[in-house]
Amino acid sequence: MPKAKGKVVFVCQQCGNESPRWQGRCSYCGEWNSYVEVDQGPASSPRSAWLEPGREGPQELAKITLDEYNRLRLPFDEVNRVLGGGIVPGSLVLVAGEPGIGKSTLLLQIAAAVAQGGGKVSYVSGEESAAQVKMRAVRLDISGEGLYFLGATGVDEILNYLEDQRPVLVVVDSIQTLYAEEVPSGAGSVGQVRECARRLTQWAKARGTPVILAGHVTKGGDVAGPRVLEHMVDVVLYLEGDTISSLRLLRGSKNRFGSTNEVGVLEMGERGLAEVDDPSRAFLSEYREGAVGSVIIPTLEGSRPLLAEVQALTSHSVLPTPRRVANGVDFSRLLLISAVLTQRARLPLGNQDIVVSVAGGLRIGEPAADLGIALAMASSLRCVPLESSTAVVGEVGLSGEVRQVPQLERRIGEVARLGFRRCLVPASSQKGSSSQQGVGLVPVSTVTQALTLLASKARGRGANSSVRGHEIGALPGDGK
Ligand code: TYD
Ligand code: MG
Repeated sequence: MPKAKGKVVFVCQQCGNESPRWQGRCSYCGEWNSYVEVDQGPASSPRSAWLEPGREGPQELAKITLDEYNRLRLPFDEVNRVLGGGIVPGSLVLVAGEPGIGKSTLLLQIAAAVAQGGGKVSYVSGEESAAQVKMRAVRLDISGEGLYFLGATGVDEILNYLEDQRPVLVVVDSIQTLYAEEVPSGAGSVGQVRECARRLTQWAKARGTPVILAGHVTKGGDVAGPRVLEHMVDVVLYLEGDTISSLRLLRGSKNRFGSTNEVGVLEMGERGLAEVDDPSRAFLSEYREGAVGSVIIPTLEGSRPLLAEVQALTSHSVLPTPRRVANGVDFSRLLLISAVLTQRARLPLGNQDIVVSVAGGLRIGEPAADLGIALAMASSLRCVPLESSTAVVGEVGLSGEVRQVPQLERRIGEVARLGFRRCLVPASSQKGSSSQQGVGLVPVSTVTQALTLLASKARGRGANSSVRGHEIGALPGDGK
């Protein structure tokens, strides 16, 4: 097939890996039949007109002033927090999330807030019509002054329009709908997404205008299209949560201008996304103390301590291979913990279906939740609730030992703030004192020891005491 004189490469549609030759199986991500030919255009394609020559000449670092890095602060502190203080001029921010999670809502709210602050904002949508966006704006009580809608998908048309408009902020919903005419593949393909992102980056850097892109994610949770997109933008934020719960987490996964250790907590209501003042309390709003299989874990979301409720349900399986379902916790951790409970603590979990979920759509990735997950499973299996007003933290090792967790003090602080009175902690991290910030510390060195605490609680109630309805109440801090 005759091709333009440009360089031709083969690009994996799954991960964006490039190869000079076609490959049946991607050597990087292992996907089969994912390589397509991409013409990169003439090797010395003319650069866009707005890149003035000389602009990028060498500059002595000492002479560079940081004035131009005055961040654009948004009126949402939870979003600023994840961005590292606001949007850096000329940066590309990708907001990724599953369909229906609230990306367009968040972007419209950000755009409107900046426009209200006096700046002109361009809202480009290839997904929705002007009427659809207007309808959302009405729902969100956004008047729309200073907010300019453009329904377009051609990247050059968009850039020409932006050149005329000169906004202070650009929002593009979504990167997967854009296309560049020179690229032969369809919108959303690796070649298109890459080229469109490249042109937008070029424009953003040349004009010092930040661009926020919405991006869809695949079922596996990756940004749809090439992973190279994640390398090309400056900031990648994931908007997460389950659609049943109204809580949403905005999590930084890459940030060239700040820490990725930050998480913003938002709540989707009738009028769009609002900030959540007390995330721990919000995530525990449905928590019933004394419920079987439910455990409170002080987890760390970035630098922020957060109390999460982990629930486990075990039930006798009729399947030859019992099922394990993990919602919000790592599946391999679930397998590890159930294996440790079976082997080290002799809990008969082998014939049980096990479901573990984190309430409120929260996802806990850290091993500090292990002990809590283990106790939730044991509580469900034995039909015994955890002692009231108790939180649990600790990593579980393969031999059943309970290991230290980072930043225990901050976690205990959050446990105390929400009025819990006790916390199971790894024995190795407890330095003498039996209480901290008003929370009684219960040191445990093995899973088996933690389970004895659970069992002794059951015995303490007496043989005929009913578990049902026992110790059910609101958060201890509510004083109910
Ligand atoms: P949307 O922003 O369209 O999601 P995305 O762009 O990520 O696909 O949000 C869609 C959901 O949010 C939809 O189910 C309706 C709900 N929603 C509210 O609950 N409250 C609101 O004020 C708005 C605008 C949407
Ligand atoms: Mg949308």
